[in-house]
Amino acid sequence: MSVTLILGSQWGDEGKGKIVDLLCQDADIVARYQGGANAGHTIVINGKKFVLHLIPSGILTPNVICVIGNGVVIDPVALMDEIKILEDLGIDVTGRLLISHKAHLIMPYHKMLDQVSEKSMEGKSIGTTGRGIGPSYIDKAKRCGIRIVDMLNPKGFEAKIRENLKEKNDILQKIYNFDEIDVEDVVKTYIDFDKRIDSFITDTTAYLNESIAAGMKIYAEGAQGTLLDVDHGTYPFVTSSNPTSGGACTGLGIPPTSISRIVGVVKAYTTRVGNGPFPTELKDETGEKLRSIGAEFGATTGRPRRCGWLDLIALKYSVMINGIQEIALTKVDVLDTFAEINLCTSYELNGKKLKHFPADIETLDQITPIYETVKGWNCSLAGIKSFAEMPKLALEYFEFIEKFTGARVSIVSTSPDRDDTIIR
Ligand code: GDP
Ligand code: IMO
Ligand code: MG
Repeated sequence: MSVTLILGSQWGDEGKGKIVDLLCQDADIVARYQGGANAGHTIVINGKKFVLHLIPSGILTPNVICVIGNGVVIDPVALMDEIKILEDLGIDVTGRLLISHKAHLIMPYHKMLDQVSEKSMEGKSIGTTGRGIGPSYIDKAKRCGIRIVDMLNPKGFEAKIRENLKEKNDILQKIYNFDEIDVEDVVKTYIDFDKRIDSFITDTTAYLNESIAAGMKIYAEGAQGTLLDVDHGTYPFVTSSNPTSGGACTGLGIPPTSISRIVGVVKAYTTRVGNGPFPTELKDETGEKLRSIGAEFGATTGRPRRCGWLDLIALKYSVMINGIQEIALTKVDVLDTFAEINLCTSYELNGKKLKHFPADIETLDQITPIYETVKGWNCSLAGIKSFAEMPKLALEYFEFIEKFTGARVSIVSTSPDRDDTIIR
């Protein structure tokens, strides 16, 4: 069986794009299984930077087929923009991009509802990316969502848009005091979109399962991260899909037995964009130093990322939920100049150690993170090409993580560039 799953182990932005791009050099297929254009996956090749939002990170590798699975929510505007950017760079996606006919669409009203509802939640907002992700998944669960396959029947498609807009316009006007959306405009835009992407649409479930049976090498790419998972994350400060390993099966229509390898991408420290609990957050100079050396600004919204030490309690939880066997440890170079590095090894509440990662944010907000301090390696990791050349203290840092989580650090990344990665 031939699917390798690569997913985010923290709150997103772990460097999934870089790791997927690197590992898929020998792949046949890379398939995205959830999320939408809320994701921002950065890939740097020979100093040239690419940021992908919807299109899988395999697109920069010639001959790799990229699949957008049924679990992804697709914003036509974002997709067409991304295709155009790639084409301008000389990357033709024709014949290399396949889109599931079961994927749900993001409609203009989803983006508006996302933005107005965030604005109205004074002081309690989630800090979403405003890309319409939540409202689109709401409609999916409510069973009134509009799917790519609906575009096959233009009359029915138009009727569904009209039906949805009746309710959404009511909400926008009556609750949020917002202008109503013009039905004709929406219908026209989506019919144009249908013509442009028609050749990409297929039954990706059948395609992926047949490819698995044929022994092809497939990578499943997650967006966001485990702690943003709608079931297992820091609810309600989460995204509306399942970035965790189970989401790869539902989001692609492949069986759990087809997954043979699970790689968790882990940043050597922790970041989070948006609101919600973050036990190891540093609101001091050290946090500022991590942000500035790590260039911690969102790849999608440009927002500064909140920064803190590596949280091994959260990571161990993530390893457990996902079945992570291997860790791809990224941004290790960011710690090069720290004389001492902290790792959170327990949570305490009212003088007692917690056994498990808490389910409720009230507890998470109250716990005290307990740290173990290790010596930093205090030298540049630039140019290091093997574990043998790694400073002893860096190796000890990796070992600490391995011992605590039970997962093996099999990949270490020391710069944004594809080349600066060491595979054990
Ligand atoms: P993703 O959403 O998980 O794909 O991650 P993002 O692309 O949003 O954020 C990761 C950021 O870190 C990007 O700017 C990457 O170019 C950068 N990056 C990835 N790996 C490394 C690394 O090992 N060292 C440094 N300094 N930057 C890295
Ligand atoms: P990648 O794939 C980091 C966060 C948002 C917000 C919450 C909900 O690049 O790792 P949403 O727009 O999804 O409804 O927002 O989730 N968020 C991300 N944070 N990386 C991402 O993607 C994210 N996608 C969403 O900031 O807190
Ligand atoms: Mg990102």
